[in-house]
Amino acid sequence: MSKVEPKVEKILEVEQVKKHFHVGRGQLVQAVDNVSFEVYKGETLGLVGESGCGKSTIGRTIIRLYDATDGDIRFKGKTTKDLKGKNLKQFNREMQMIFQDPYASLNPRMTVGDIIAEGLDIHELAKGKARQEKVVELLKTVGLNEEHADRFPHEFSGGQRQRIGIARALAVDPEFIIADEPISALDVSIQAQVVNLMKKLQREKGLTYLFIAHDLSMVKYISDRVGVMYLGNMVELADSQELYDNPLHPYTEALLSAVPIPDPDTEKRRERIILKGDVPSPIDPPSGCRFRTRCPKAMDICAKEVPTWQEVRPLHWVSCHLYQEESLKKEEGMK
Ligand SMILES: Nc1ncnc2c1ncn2[C@@H]1O[C@H](COP(=O)(O)OP(=O)(O)OP(=O)(O)O)[C@@H](O)[C@H]1O
Ligand code: SF4
Ligand SMILES: [Mg+2]
Repeated sequence: MSKVEPKVEKILEVEQVKKHFHVGRGQLVQAVDNVSFEVYKGETLGLVGESGCGKSTIGRTIIRLYDATDGDIRFKGKTTKDLKGKNLKQFNREMQMIFQDPYASLNPRMTVGDIIAEGLDIHELAKGKARQEKVVELLKTVGLNEEHADRFPHEFSGGQRQRIGIARALAVDPEFIIADEPISALDVSIQAQVVNLMKKLQREKGLTYLFIAHDLSMVKYISDRVGVMYLGNMVELADSQELYDNPLHPYTEALLSAVPIPDPDTEKRRERIILKGDVPSPIDPPSGCRFRTRCPKAMDICAKEVPTWQEVRPLHWVSCHLYQEESLKKEEGMK
């Protein structure tokens, strides 16, 4: 995987974004809290983390399915906060989403052709014969064929349905695709096919991906850089090789320790870090560092102060007191 150069164009900037949900009785779910990162044009940024850590919420906030509670999101240099009318429509065309469950996200009463052409209709990009031709071209692009246009989603396998979802996203010539666990519901044998199709399309069309996933080995394979989330926070972000070779955050270390290593000798020596306890509730997250209740390296300062999000090596960001000199000095003083 190629190293991402620091000077390449930023297509997306997420700055101190929060998304909190009211869930009754005055309670607030802090699903995403103070998350900041950038995505470079043409790269794939992978997002990983346990269930409930806020991956889908940040994806949905970026694409404006949700309004951010706080912070700013800039797409191609412009804030997306107050997009309206024509500009919002253009944004909806440039940024598309692919979902985890390709069956639930495809209307069962519509033919595959109409599903794929929905964006063409909304954005008035093609009519009549041109529309039909575009649908056939899109079907072929994703490895399906012309005859599939008149069939319904239930007639297809999971892998084929995900290809239909990809064709639908591609119909409007997007620049940025958020793929929310696009392969998690598929058989392992099919997963690589869909990922390889996505990689091929990226090369051909210069697409940028935000690729959300559970499976760390697949994320490494597709991503140029990987971000790790825990309980609504981004805790580490780096070039994927760097992250896998030199994880800095104790949570990343634990996640990676669970990934089998292909080399049998190294695999034998692999030590699993088992985290104690469960992920706390995002309604009442721990003070200071949100990971402290499960962190094998937690210090006194971790309960008192929120660690800052810092670039501790070139392009390697982490949020942990262990890498902040000021914090280590304060910790000494607390003893
Ligand atoms: N609409 C909502 N209303 C209230 N709480 C929500 C809503 N959407 C998500 N949450 C909560 O926000 C937190 C983050 O959820 P999110 O779906 O973003 O996690 P995720 O990382 O995508 O998890 P998974 O891997 O299971 O898909 C969870 O605690 C979830 O219950
Ligand atoms: S800040 Fe403290 S508790 Fe949090 S990950 Fe670092 S060492 Fe662990
Ligand atoms: Mg999710």
